[in-house]
Amino acid sequence: MSGQKFANNTIPESRKFVEIRAIRGQIDLCPDRNLLTIRFPNPKNSCKFVQFVDKTDIKTSPMNSLIIYESVFGNTALVAKAVCEGLSFHGEAVLLEYRQVKKADIARADLVVAGSPTQKFGAMPGIRKFIGDLPAGCLKGKLVTAFDTRIDVKKVDNRFLTLMAGIFGYAATPLASRLRRKGGKPVVPAMGFFVDDTKGPLTAHEADRARAWAGNIMAVC
Ligand SMILES: Cc1cc2nc3c(=O)[nH]c(=O)nc-3n(C[C@H](O)[C@H](O)[C@H](O)COP(=O)(O)O)c2cc1C
Repeated sequence: MSGQKFANNTIPESRKFVEIRAIRGQIDLCPDRNLLTIRFPNPKNSCKFVQFVDKTDIKTSPMNSLIIYESVFGNTALVAKAVCEGLSFHGEAVLLEYRQVKKADIARADLVVAGSPTQKFGAMPGIRKFIGDLPAGCLKGKLVTAFDTRIDVKKVDNRFLTLMAGIFGYAATPLASRLRRKGGKPVVPAMGFFVDDTKGPLTAHEADRARAWAGNIMAVC
């Protein structure tokens, strides 16, 4: 994004802006104003920071999103749902467990987001194979990104686990690479969301963070 940041009282009059308010992932376009304001919410639902962006940086036409996920205990499914909610303000957003995805779902999507729990420092075999089996180049012309759920090694306080996680990582980055190898264009870096324990629950406010992350995807494409 080539958008500049301005202090509130120094926005050049000459620049053509519109105002967008994004609160809890919801974006309202106010074309009668001369500002484009993206508010990224914090978990307490107050404004964390505001960024002013040239409106030419924003894709305002509807974008169809497909969120594909796998989940064992339901936490990744909750994050996927929050991502879907964040994206649904920008066009049709379809949420599907990977086994339900049809060719036509992929063909219709402008943006494909994949999500998996991190298990054994990587993505689940099911969704990995699903993406691996997609025809070569089938994500060409589409934007892609990925997310995972994971345990916060800082909270586990296990030096061996911290070391292993540092070396082998998590599910999201290799998942995003798989999408890229099928022709997709990465739109934002892959993201991890925390669970408190193996079976969950999701760490407090992580669903809000996922909604905001998804809202932010639109601000950069
Ligand atoms: C067999 C197994 C291996 C796991 N390995 C990791 C791991 O390498 N790194 C990590 O952060 N969490 C690991 N976890 C915790 C999972 O990330 C956690 O169960 C998952 O985020 C929950 O998502 P889900 O409810 O969608 O299945 C593991 C969990 C299981 C059951």
